[in-house]
Amino acid sequence: MSERRYLTIALTKGRLAHDTLELFERIGVNTAGAMDKKTRKLIFTNEELGLRFFLAKGPDVPTYVYYGAADIGIVGRDTIIEENKKLYEVLDLGYGKCRMCVCGPASARRFLEGGDQIRVATKYPNIAKDYFYRRKNQTVEIIKLNGSIELAPIVGLSEVIVDIVETGSTLRENGLEVLEEVLDLSARMVVNQVSMKMENERITDLITRLRNELAK
Ligand code: PRP
Repeated sequence: MSERRYLTIALTKGRLAHDTLELFERIGVNTAGAMDKKTRKLIFTNEELGLRFFLAKGPDVPTYVYYGAADIGIVGRDTIIEENKKLYEVLDLGYGKCRMCVCGPASARRFLEGGDQIRVATKYPNIAKDYFYRRKNQTVEIIKLNGSIELAPIVGLSEVIVDIVETGSTLRENGLEVLEEVLDLSARMVVNQVSMKMENERITDLITRLRNELAK
């Protein structure tokens, strides 16, 4: 008998991976110690089901899936849109719910009416560009940052930011607020286009089982 190929699943490190592994456990998939917070191991194998999980940084998940190094990825909708790779988005997992918003001090609201050439700091330059240039028809300067985006308007790097708002407490604690909503976000399952053909039965079965569990 020929050896069965592993189905490889790339998870976004952190909360999303934790929620996803819990979901897999609920459908009877033993995630082989991947939930162990102390481990520094990056890859986990379930021999019985021929599954492999690995943990990666969010923006790298679509890359692994696009190149076929992972068949499946679990990643936020924000990252899928920002990375803009050719992938099949097959399932909304419902958790990791948050919003992509334009935020700033209340006094920055007037800058969003157009006219001024403002600066927008963000970890998501493509989403920010699309929102301001295409949807709002406003020319802005986009400044790419890698974290703690809320700092930018406080220290005068930009007038506003485009960032993720979950509970809103980071904004509140820094005297900022939501000025406009850009996108609704949640965790999604994406699939490599070739894998979807080659492993259709196994992937479809997995999607069905996850969807049924989420509907409970
Ligand atoms: C994210 C996001 C906000 C915060 C929103 O940052 O960029 O800063 O969470 O969550 P809240 O509305 O519940 O306060 P993250 O913690 O991922 O770190 P980062 O600032 O380094 O990107």
